[in-house]
Amino acid sequence: NWTMVNIADESIQAVREQVGAKRAICGLSGGVDSAVAAALVQQAIGDQLTCVFVDHGLLRKGEPEQVEKDFVAVTGVNLHVVDAQDRFLAALGGVTDPEEKRKIIGREFIRVFEEAAREIVGEDAAEPVEFLVQGTLYPDVVESGGGTGAANIKSHHNVGGLPDDLQFKLIEPLRTLFKDEVRALGEQLGLPPEIVWRQPFPGPGLGIRIIGAVTRDRLDILRDADAIAREELTRAGLDRDIWQFPVVLLADVRSVGVQGDSRTYGHPIVLRPVTSEDAMTADWARLPYDVLQRISTRITNEVREINRVTVDITSKPPGTIEWE
Ligand code: XMP
Repeated sequence: NWTMVNIADESIQAVREQVGAKRAICGLSGGVDSAVAAALVQQAIGDQLTCVFVDHGLLRKGEPEQVEKDFVAVTGVNLHVVDAQDRFLAALGGVTDPEEKRKIIGREFIRVFEEAAREIVGEDAAEPVEFLVQGTLYPDVVESGGGTGAANIKSHHNVGGLPDDLQFKLIEPLRTLFKDEVRALGEQLGLPPEIVWRQPFPGPGLGIRIIGAVTRDRLDILRDADAIAREELTRAGLDRDIWQFPVVLLADVRSVGVQGDSRTYGHPIVLRPVTSEDAMTADWARLPYDVLQRISTRITNEVREINRVTVDITSKPPGTIEWE
């Protein structure tokens, strides 16, 4: 793709000029955007870049492994892993407001990055890390109110939630691109289809897919249900037809059910499969009934705390893709 060759070359050149001989770090989230941003900056400045993977405990099943093994295997990037699960859970303790959750997660991310940056360089280094790479896309900029005249719909934490006293200069090589362009760019940069074609996943992760306070138990429940939904979608061969498939745990809601001879009093989950071009608008995906049936049966059989499975049939607008 001629255009993408140009965009790749020009961006690589621009990053090289911006960074010079300084050091940069890039947070890997497991998503397409951060992977493509990291791969691009890696091609621009090589070993001056260190990727930081913060395991905040809000990821889906298998994601930490995917980042730690697959991405590194392909790019050969320097990787620094931080286990910050306890810290994020503590910071999120009792918080139910969606924007507050985003701000807390964004703030903790930055603090962890700052600590990681110091560790990467070591005590006696003359050159501190000067740049932070972010996989911010054009729609993120617009929806966080950064675009011309746009309302602040949600503060996407990679845009709106940065602290005022941020110690890094930002590198945002994807800031003018839409998702389909980022995927094309990723292919151009040599990333494999498993990474390039991953469905989008929000930076705040499962933290904004638990309606109610985030706890370790709730995360485990949601992770199990989410893994089943994704498995069945893949098995049905529908991965590329669906833009995104959030699974949402209504953690403060309970309903009565029956399992075998016993009454249950469990939580509902919501399946939110959507189709979209760029996440600015979306439609609810008409998943085949037999696929929905398999997901429902498996989740209620395999995840003890869930006794009801519902499907969200709201387009965006008026709904958003995520519930928070
Ligand atoms: P909404 O829910 O606003 O989501 O329709 C649009 C797209 O953005 C993703 N999303 C986020 N991504 N940080 C992110 O990096 C966030 O805080 C955030 N909130 C939503 C969402 O998954 C969808 O792809």
